[in-house]
Amino acid sequence: MKNNSEKVFLAHIVAASENNVIGANGDMPWHLPNDFKYFKNKTWGMPVIMGRKSYEALKESLPGRINIVITKKTDFHPKDALVFNNIEDAITKAKESDAKEIFIIGGGEIFKQTIDIVSRIYLTRVHATIEGDTYYPEINKNIWKLVSAQSFPADDKNNYPYTFEVWEKNIDAS
Ligand SMILES: NC(=O)c1ccc[n+]([C@@H]2O[C@H](COP(=O)([O-])OP(=O)(O)OC[C@H]3O[C@@H](n4cnc5c(N)ncnc54)[C@H](OP(=O)(O)O)[C@@H]3O)[C@@H](O)[C@H]2O)c1
Repeated sequence: MKNNSEKVFLAHIVAASENNVIGANGDMPWHLPNDFKYFKNKTWGMPVIMGRKSYEALKESLPGRINIVITKKTDFHPKDALVFNNIEDAITKAKESDAKEIFIIGGGEIFKQTIDIVSRIYLTRVHATIEGDTYYPEINKNIWKLVSAQSFPADDKNNYPYTFEVWEKNIDAS
């Protein structure tokens, strides 16, 4: 267990197009295996919290991570994930682990409800304007500061150029 003086980061990890699309028809509208590797590397061994629709899109829980699903349903009992009926209880459960970081991994509804309480955003910016039906909130640059960015071109496996951005809450703004 962590003692209270140890800081646990609550983070979003998300891939979004230039126009903030994160999903279309229940899926991600691009093929970026390098982003999957990045996601796996960052979240491995950590608790991951997600909305019920994102969990169902995955089809099964993510290996090597504590999977926590949020739903209002009372009859949703997947065998490979913990389930909570609100975001606060899900975060409380995730904090019981020894993880240094807790990841909120989507989707749109959950990102929107938690952007004010996370302190870090791992944003893979997909450099394209894409049609979709699910969006990430606009990052408010008065509140958030870009602390790192690593850009990559499209290639034969990754169909758009992309940048791995890390944003942290700008403490000067509070
Ligand atoms: N690009 C990315 O990085 C990324 C990441 C994740 C997902 N996605 C995409 O995002 C889309 C899914 O996102 P979405 O917004 O439709 O759904 P979602 O956020 O994954 O899940 C929504 C569901 O979560 C539950 N929920 C939401 N708020 C709640 C609350 N306060 N208390 C209790 N339960 C709550 C409800 O489940 P019940 O209806 O069961 O009550 C709700 O229907 C898909 O297209 C997926 O591919 C993209």
